[in-house]
Amino acid sequence: MTRRRRVYEGKAKVLFEGPESGTLVQYFKDDATAFNGVKKATVTGKGVLNNRISEYLMVKLAEIGIHNHFIRRLNMREQLIKEVEIIPVEVIVRNIAAGSICTRLGIAEGTPLPRPIIEYCFKSDELNDPLVSEEHITAFGWANPLELDDIMSQSLRVNDFLLGLFAGIGIRLVDFKLEFGRYYETDEMQIILADEISPDNCRLWDAVTNKKLDKDRFRRDLGDVEDAYQEVARRLGIIPEGGPGDLQGTTAIQ
Ligand code: TMP
Ligand code: ASP
Repeated sequence: MTRRRRVYEGKAKVLFEGPESGTLVQYFKDDATAFNGVKKATVTGKGVLNNRISEYLMVKLAEIGIHNHFIRRLNMREQLIKEVEIIPVEVIVRNIAAGSICTRLGIAEGTPLPRPIIEYCFKSDELNDPLVSEEHITAFGWANPLELDDIMSQSLRVNDFLLGLFAGIGIRLVDFKLEFGRYYETDEMQIILADEISPDNCRLWDAVTNKKLDKDRFRRDLGDVEDAYQEVARRLGIIPEGGPGDLQGTTAIQ
């Protein structure tokens, strides 16, 4: 086992220094948190499933020209990614009302929105990721107007593509959260999709029954969290090599 430098530890993932400069290793933990870390638990196998699901979706997105940080999967829990300078803004895309938009605007959960709605939150645990406008983002210099246009149009393309992909496997893409980063290659800078796309940061409902197949099962104590994540992986055709029984994966090498 080699020791690697831990670059960053978040609530669900750890980033380690990668084998080459400009790369990082993204390790997916089984830890689940909600309400800004107030609620915590371990969901066995979640990290393995999210590693695979995020890989699958990032590869598909790259195929349609959405550049992203994914390079290759390394093992059950780790993927090699491009190092980016994360833009401190969470981009939320909503197709159907659920979660915070319902309480904030008094809309019933499940109401289809007239068109996809993009919201931005400032990434700050201390402040509980407050909702912000484009004005805040550009005025405080978190992203410039050109970067923000790019982020918005990439987010809508991701939404169009994922809506279709999930519809094809009987899932309604209710909403999701994306993060972007600046990727520097020689003297060029590009805004690319980063972080992860998984049931941790998407709302996914069964198209027929509306059963929640995402982290709301954990947030709202609905039970069967791992089964729901596994169901998403199964429908995408990517249950881990060892089958659903093999969800332990490797432990982090530190
Ligand atoms: P919200 O309805 O709670 O604002 O969440 C909108 C979407 O963003 C939902 O798919 C869950 C995801 N999300 C995250 O990925 N991280 C977060 O910290 C929060 C609050 C939501
Ligand atoms: N990011 C939130 C937290 O850590 C979790 C969520 O609701 O998705 O607690």
